[in-house]
Amino acid sequence: MATPIILDCDPGHDDAVALLLALASPELELLGVTTTYGNQTLEKTTANAIRVLELAGRPDVPVAAGADRPLERELVVAAHVHGESGLDGPTLPPPSAEPISRDAVEWMAGAIADAAGTVTLVPTGPLTNVARYLDEHGTTGIERIVLMGGAIAEGNMTPAAEFNVWADPEAAQAVLHAEVDVTMIGLDVTHRAVTGADVQRRLRGAGSIGVFVAELVDFFAVYHRETYGWDGAPIHDAVAVAHLLRPGLVGTKPRNVEVELESELCRGRTVVDLWLRTGRPANAHVGVDLDTDAFFDLLVERLARLPAR
Ligand code: RIB
Ligand code: CA
Repeated sequence: MATPIILDCDPGHDDAVALLLALASPELELLGVTTTYGNQTLEKTTANAIRVLELAGRPDVPVAAGADRPLERELVVAAHVHGESGLDGPTLPPPSAEPISRDAVEWMAGAIADAAGTVTLVPTGPLTNVARYLDEHGTTGIERIVLMGGAIAEGNMTPAAEFNVWADPEAAQAVLHAEVDVTMIGLDVTHRAVTGADVQRRLRGAGSIGVFVAELVDFFAVYHRETYGWDGAPIHDAVAVAHLLRPGLVGTKPRNVEVELESELCRGRTVVDLWLRTGRPANAHVGVDLDTDAFFDLLVERLARLPAR
């Protein structure tokens, strides 16, 4: 039986790849997509989710728009990374449909209540929607949460913090303390999922969706080349989906994770007790390594299965 999932995302180049990987994987049943501000405004991330679903020939997948700003913090979007549209680079038609009328949290509640089994949440943007859902509906019906966000070591939005957690640190702290099974796929793992010339070549040979993803990467790599000197881009969010497909790809350790809320300097830092210094109970399976080659083998193989656009 396929694992029912909800992808909560802010497309966003790597969110788009995560969505396509989920659609290409029969092990997963994508119940729907919920969207949040993050890489761009809510309006743009929602339109981008619909655009990618239509590209993949899946306009049947419901898209429910959620939070247009963090719980408490100011709205900051990552246009410097993902461009004005949030999905700059490839030519992609505008969406031909609107999101459903219900908001993300309301739709999540219905989808989880109606699901045959427990549902896995896969957040790949700021955690505002998920925190709101948990606050209003609790953890009943949720199998686990496998999120892309945080970091053991360095951040990317600031030296201290990763963007998804930095954007809404209160939401991240709430999710980590909701007493639900959480896996944190952070930058320590996703910075090992950086494309290169060989991956780009293989993507361009993986059908028209593979070409589309290679074009996404071409744009996404500009920021990362300028910032890190890399010859490619980290496909952060697709690693969270890949973890559901191949649990062995990402090594994890049960550890305590707390989020810095008070400091401005370290706002949104995920403080991971990797070496068990604090005695605080583990509240997440924290990603510590990645089999990079196996990840890209899986990604290319699955994208090639999607129908030509
Ligand atoms: O820090 C990386 C994360 O922030 C990814 O999910 C990317 O899409 C952005 O949302
Ligand atoms: Ca994202």
